[in-house]
Amino acid sequence: MGRALARRMAARGDGVALLGRDLVALEDAARDLEIRGAARAPSILCDLEAPETFERVLAEAERALGRLDAVVVTAGLFATQDELEADAALAERLLTVDFTNTVLFCEAARKRLLAAGGGKLCVFSSVAGERGRKPVVIYGASKAGLTAYLEGLDHKHRADGLEVITVKPGFVKTTMTADLKPPPFAGEPEAVAARVLDAIDRGRPVVYAPLAWRPIMAVIRALPRFVMRRVGF
Ligand SMILES: NC(=O)c1ccc[n+]([C@@H]2O[C@H](COP(=O)([O-])OP(=O)(O)OC[C@H]3O[C@@H](n4cnc5c(N)ncnc54)[C@H](OP(=O)(O)O)[C@@H]3O)[C@@H](O)[C@H]2O)c1
Repeated sequence: MGRALARRMAARGDGVALLGRDLVALEDAARDLEIRGAARAPSILCDLEAPETFERVLAEAERALGRLDAVVVTAGLFATQDELEADAALAERLLTVDFTNTVLFCEAARKRLLAAGGGKLCVFSSVAGERGRKPVVIYGASKAGLTAYLEGLDHKHRADGLEVITVKPGFVKTTMTADLKPPPFAGEPEAVAARVLDAIDRGRPVVYAPLAWRPIMAVIRALPRFVMRRVGF
């Protein structure tokens, strides 16, 4: 989804700094963005498992682009509930990457954007954070914490010019979900990217993508606990 969003930004001539942990893949993607029209596409190594580097990499991105209008965080880890229950080290890693270190990255971005007078902070959480559910007990908890943090951040800083956009994807067909059976409302990254870019431009605080997940989650949020204990989703 991050690549699809970057391609849309490039196509309208935005400068896009790519942050990730595989420099060769980043540079390949950067060349692609330049061909599509990106004003600039610097590549910067950033591992979400290395929080001590976050301030430096954001400073590097700002230097390379001239200024930061928006910071978008799409990185995240997924593992099934069975895998996480069987491997405490994997569970710790996922909770650290998807919650603690994502929050620390956002804190570094918050400071930098506010120092420049404001901007957009768009972060991919998940519908998995909306309700405690059997297949995503641990992953969902990390996203629930992230969603709560992003909501609080938006409430606290919108008046200062920082607009926080929380993306709540439902099931989208990406590398992350390649081994899972897609449900009926599975989305495509390109369509998600179009919705997310529109939400960033408008500063909409919450985006469900695909849109069908908004009513689906409204129903799931309303289900009583005794029903949630019985169902398998
Ligand atoms: N796909 C879905 O159905 C779905 C549903 C709800 C929420 N989401 C959320 O949406 C976001 C984007 O997911 P996606 O579906 O587009 O998955 P994806 O294609 O697997 O993208 C996730 C990216 O995160 C990067 N990443 C993982 N650990 C990292 C680390 N320690 N440091 C830096 N980068 C790291 C991966 O980089 P590498 O290429 O180096 O591995 C990968 O490029 C994630 O936050 C995910 O939790 C996805």
